[in-house]
Amino acid sequence: MLHRAVLWLTAFLASTGLVSQHGALSTTGVGAQYLLGLGIADITGPVVETNMMGYASLAQTDTGLHLRQRSRAWIVADASNPTDRFVYINADIAMGDTGVRRSIVTQLSAMYPGLYNNENIALGSTHQHSGVGGYLEDLLPQITSLGYVKQTADAIVAGTVLAVQRAHESLAPGKLSLGNTTILDANINRSPSAYLANPVDERAKYEYDQDKDMTLLRFDDASGNARGFLTFFPVHGTSLYENNTLVSSDNKGMAAYLYEAMVEPNAMPGNNTFVAGFTQANVGDTSPNTEGAYCESPGQPWDGQLCSFDHSTCGNMTEDCHGRGPGFRISDFESNMIIAQRQVDGAKTLMSQTLPAVEGPVKYVHTYLNMSWHEFTLPNGTIVQTCPPAMGYSFAGGTTDGPGAFDFIQGDNSSNPQNPFWEIVKGAITPNPPPEQIACQYPKPILLDTGYANSPYQWSPHTVDIQMLRAGNLVIVVIPGELTTMSGRRMRDAVRAQLIASGVAGSDAYVAIAGPANTYAHYVATPEEYAVQRYEGASTIFGQWTLDAYIDKYTSLVPYLGATATGTPASDPAPEDQTSKAISLQTGVILDNAPLGKSFGDVMEDVASSPFAEGDTVTAQFVGANPRNNLRLEQTFLTVDQSDNGDWVPVRSDSHPATLYQWLRTSTILGYSTVNISWTIESGTPSGTYRLTYYGDSKSISGAITPFIGHSSSFTIS
Ligand SMILES: *[C@@H]1O[C@H](CO)[C@@H](O)[C@H](O)[C@H]1NC(C)=O
Ligand SMILES: *[C@@H]1O[C@H](CO)[C@@H](O)[C@H](O)[C@H]1NC(C)=O
Ligand SMILES: *[C@@H]1O[C@H](CO)[C@@H](O)[C@H](O)[C@H]1NC(C)=O
Ligand SMILES: *[C@@H]1O[C@H](CO)[C@@H](O)[C@H](O)[C@H]1NC(C)=O
Ligand SMILES: *[C@@H]1O[C@H](CO)[C@@H](O)[C@H](O)[C@H]1NC(C)=O
Ligand SMILES: *[C@@H]1O[C@H](CO)[C@@H](O)[C@H](O)[C@H]1NC(C)=O
Ligand SMILES: *[C@@H]1O[C@H](CO)[C@@H](O)[C@H](O)[C@H]1NC(C)=O
Ligand SMILES: *[C@@H]1O[C@H](CO)[C@@H](O)[C@H](O)[C@H]1NC(C)=O
Repeated sequence: MLHRAVLWLTAFLASTGLVSQHGALSTTGVGAQYLLGLGIADITGPVVETNMMGYASLAQTDTGLHLRQRSRAWIVADASNPTDRFVYINADIAMGDTGVRRSIVTQLSAMYPGLYNNENIALGSTHQHSGVGGYLEDLLPQITSLGYVKQTADAIVAGTVLAVQRAHESLAPGKLSLGNTTILDANINRSPSAYLANPVDERAKYEYDQDKDMTLLRFDDASGNARGFLTFFPVHGTSLYENNTLVSSDNKGMAAYLYEAMVEPNAMPGNNTFVAGFTQANVGDTSPNTEGAYCESPGQPWDGQLCSFDHSTCGNMTEDCHGRGPGFRISDFESNMIIAQRQVDGAKTLMSQTLPAVEGPVKYVHTYLNMSWHEFTLPNGTIVQTCPPAMGYSFAGGTTDGPGAFDFIQGDNSSNPQNPFWEIVKGAITPNPPPEQIACQYPKPILLDTGYANSPYQWSPHTVDIQMLRAGNLVIVVIPGELTTMSGRRMRDAVRAQLIASGVAGSDAYVAIAGPANTYAHYVATPEEYAVQRYEGASTIFGQWTLDAYIDKYTSLVPYLGATATGTPASDPAPEDQTSKAISLQTGVILDNAPLGKSFGDVMEDVASSPFAEGDTVTAQFVGANPRNNLRLEQTFLTVDQSDNGDWVPVRSDSHPATLYQWLRTSTILGYSTVNISWTIESGTPSGTYRLTYYGDSKSISGAITPFIGHSSSFTIS
């Protein structure tokens, strides 16, 4: 395969005139220093009967589809030295994962030997909380999904590889430019009491307790036409609440859809060539619930009041404390749309400007770091250690975006936790921590000592990916977790200072944070925030020196980003594959049946009588089958078809925000199910004749899977 890649590249370079007749590469005059590629593909796992990822709520089992999840990929290669390249992937999932990344790297490095590898592929995420779960390799995040769900992981891997393949096939000379803009109303700090623990003089340097800047890297073709962009902006993907059970993409996936649909209004979702990227940044303590957190405690005196400041409680419990988005009077879907649109508006502002060009080398560096008892020296000379992973009590307190359960609260750093029952049962869940772990994690009271829990396999990661990507003056710091606002600022400042001090970049050096990416090692709070032990501090799994250890490691790797740098840094061993030991308790589909006298796809409840108008919802119910039988990746479970002189033309798919696909198992024993398809007619929809179409796949008792199609009656829009 290698020879084919080389042949292809040579032919490509010759055809674009980048290779002069002497065979030397010339970039002057062409104005395109880079080869750029962009791609998108579908990664949606099973949309029913599967736990969703993000809130870790056992009750959040999916029942249908709102928007498909996608991976988007951006390749940047140095035109004069095309093996100097990286690919940044923004998967619309809750977080990057070691096992998923391993599979993606294995496949891409086999398909494109010498071009894509473990060092130059970054698996970033939107950090959304309404996607399909079960794909993470370690045990703790698998608990609510009843173990590993291979179908989810396989969908993410296949779609992501396809997105990179499409990006690769689209490689063409082009230009990059970079800028930022302020978006004031799209995020809020959900742990301000922890932020306030940071030093006064440090806080005084910033106007807000959140980063309000959106950074945008613009991708143009050689003539200056935009092909897409990649933005970095910190806001949690928790606009949709944990009581939503329709698979979706939360605010960043919605923003990407809205932008792409604006550029190519006639393309079906996911069939676009312009690729809009909204990836996550120092997201740790951010929330999209910008109206604040209130008590929903009907009948209690504190109903409707703000939750308590330090602990986010209502009557001393976290359960009733809920953050409110800007559309809360209507619904969380409305809030999601508003937060998405605010990010779209920021990107539009930047895309309408002439941004400073990005020029200079393409470089990358990657290493593994074992964070269990990792020893390093603080800038003041003191030697400290990080700890094996552990979750604090306040981890179980949850957040105002998704409150915890029982009597756990946030901001609990007491050495005598209140509930004696948990003192007894926690030892049955994970081993009781030994004294050196208690001391190392101090002042975190340890609830789950996951670092010592390796049965039947690892509960939390010990070894993380440390990675940076460079294009000219931009350095993307790819983080295996969620940095809080102040952690992100410290990291950016330290890496930037090191880039300049070491002569790797000039005074225009620009650092962007991306995460949670590659591996999910939970949160990274500053040591001051750690002491307060709100959710983010309690979830800073390697102890109070986690951030400083990362800063030490990332800054030490800066020389590898130099224009003439060669070689790779020393690395700890790669984390061991856990998936071969994975437990899966999710049962498969047994069979589907249509009730007597009916066939799959038959209409059970037809559309109401016409005509319909903008704002109306048209619904039909069909004899269904389990959509786990066929994920229909790159396809759709439904279309809205418009009649064009007797031909039916699909005009909407299952990934339009106005359509919903809902599945309901009506008899497990008999294998009956129903599917509801609905379409809320958008303003501007042309008048005409339409119908709803359902695409399903049924499973027989022998295991054979058979596709079928059902149509509603036609209806008119006036
Ligand atoms: C936005 O750009 C300005 C000017 O380069 C810079 O000072 C600021 O730090 C940038 N914001 C972020 C979040 O990087
Ligand atoms: C979902 O939860 C939110 C926040 O508690 C609540 O306001 C909303 O009514 C719930 N929605 C449904 C459908 O139960
Ligand atoms: C996707 O776009 C291509 C090119 O515009 C078009 O030929 C194809 O029919 C589209 N596919 C779908 C499913 O819309
Ligand atoms: C909350 O806890 C405090 C201190 O333990 C107690 O004084 C107060 O009565 C409690 N409030 C409620 C509503 O239970
Ligand atoms: C990480 O390092 C610690 C301390 O040196 C060691 O005990 C442990 O085995 C290492 N873990 C892995 C996964 O390499
Ligand atoms: C170095 O800084 C750390 C963190 O602030 C502190 O705990 C330690 O005491 C300092 N050491 C010296 C020698 O000042
Ligand atoms: C625990 O948190 C409180 C603030 O809630 C802080 O004042 C105190 O210093 C913290 N305790 C420790 C041991 O860090
Ligand atoms: C599906 O449609 C039927 C018939 O219109 C309706 O009774 C039912 O509530 C719908 N189910 C869902 C989940 O919307």
